[in-house]
Amino acid sequence: MMKDLFSINLPAVSPSLLAADQKNLPSEIERAFSSGAELIHFDVMDGRFVPATSFWNGELDSVLPSCPLFRDVHLMVEDPIAAARKFADLGADCLTLHLEALEERGVAPSQLRTLLPSTYLGISLRPHTPVERLKPYLPYVDLVLLMSVEPGKGGQAFLEASPERAAAVKGMIEEGGYRVLLSIDGGINGATAKKALASGVDILVAGSYLYGHSDFASRLRGLIDG
Ligand code: DX5
Ligand code: ZN
Repeated sequence: MMKDLFSINLPAVSPSLLAADQKNLPSEIERAFSSGAELIHFDVMDGRFVPATSFWNGELDSVLPSCPLFRDVHLMVEDPIAAARKFADLGADCLTLHLEALEERGVAPSQLRTLLPSTYLGISLRPHTPVERLKPYLPYVDLVLLMSVEPGKGGQAFLEASPERAAAVKGMIEEGGYRVLLSIDGGINGATAKKALASGVDILVAGSYLYGHSDFASRLRGLIDG
């Protein structure tokens, strides 16, 4: 059954499995769960919208349906509607589509809920796409995923313009009175998490700062507690 996005305790951390041991995804998901995470982030890349490929060749077919956390799926793909349908069928709770891919395909914001009726919806934008372009999507989505690195790989440095962009998006959400959560993705660590939270971010996506470290649980708590 789909989990409730708006019951998640905020601010929250969504660990990104891109940085996890790909041969042991179920135990890496369990690690996030036992560390207190309520959601988990799946980065889907098709080798076209971004150069790399991840979770694109059936790797999640057996993993998604049984995942106990809120399944936050980030689609870095050329054809986001087709991919979203596929991952919705596998049990994704929130599907986040890139604004640039939707514009390229000529999908209007008002069509999104009709095309994808069964899950929460997120809209993401690349770090150099003007945040004003989000405005028409805000009535139709539940989440904005602001990229704080160029999408495509983990372990990159947080772009310094990101907190200002996050504050501008938060302002647009509040001004319109929308029920939309703000998430940020890329380069999150102890220091950048503080800047993001101070700008009004609700959900921090973090990959390489958490996975591959034995103190995963205390790192996760530290991102929120400072
Ligand atoms: C990048 C992905 C991110 C990535 C973040 O394109 O969207 O979710 O896993 O990795 P870190 O936290 O290492 O920057
Ligand atoms: Zn991501």
